[in-house]
Amino acid sequence: MLSIVLLGGLYFAGAMIGSAQEGWQQPADSTGLPNNVWKRGLAISPVSVNLNGRDKRMVGLGSYIVNARAGCADCHTNPLFLSGGDPFRGQTAQVNVVHFLAGGRLFGPFTSRNITPEPPSNMPAGLTLDQFIQVMRTGKDFDNLHPQMGPLLQVMPWPIYQNMTDDDLRAIYEYLSAIPHADGTP
Ligand code: HEC
Repeated sequence: MLSIVLLGGLYFAGAMIGSAQEGWQQPADSTGLPNNVWKRGLAISPVSVNLNGRDKRMVGLGSYIVNARAGCADCHTNPLFLSGGDPFRGQTAQVNVVHFLAGGRLFGPFTSRNITPEPPSNMPAGLTLDQFIQVMRTGKDFDNLHPQMGPLLQVMPWPIYQNMTDDDLRAIYEYLSAIPHADGTP
């Protein structure tokens, strides 16, 4: 009996220490996602997110992948940083929020696309979730913008992103659905 009480006490103390820890040691919520990941994701989004009717953990995870891991804005925001706010020149970063993820960057003959929610459907890049997952897994160009090059998106690192889990891809889609629509740079 005493040992059960002792063990229980130790377990409780361990849980208290655990909750103060950072990183993967941190207790996961019911989705199995460490709380610090989705919270960090929500904190680092350069644009505001609309959480109405959305799972904030999915939106947060999506933001974390887009803004801390996969570098989508590097190619899909043109230019990514405002003049005077370019970290490559040693300046404090100021992201071009007005055109965030609105595409328009040139890569030879290819131009990155606008992946913000497209009115009136408000779906990111006008793609359904199923289509978006197909883009990320197979590189299929649903707009078929360069048939002379074939049906596959070029430059876009889908051969890498195709390795993500369904949950990660869904989270990215949730985040891209929750950000404001933006127009590309002319
Ligand atoms: C290395 C640059 C680069 C990065 C990084 C990148 N993209 Fe792309 N993406 C492109 C380019 C360029 C195109 C258009 C390619 C073409 O026209 O063949 C594109 C196309 C797309 C499309 C197709 C849009 C449509 O209208 O069908 C989606 C969706 C997309 N990207 C999402 C993403 C997401 C999400 C990320 C981050 C996880 C990302 N991209 C990261 C360059 C990039």
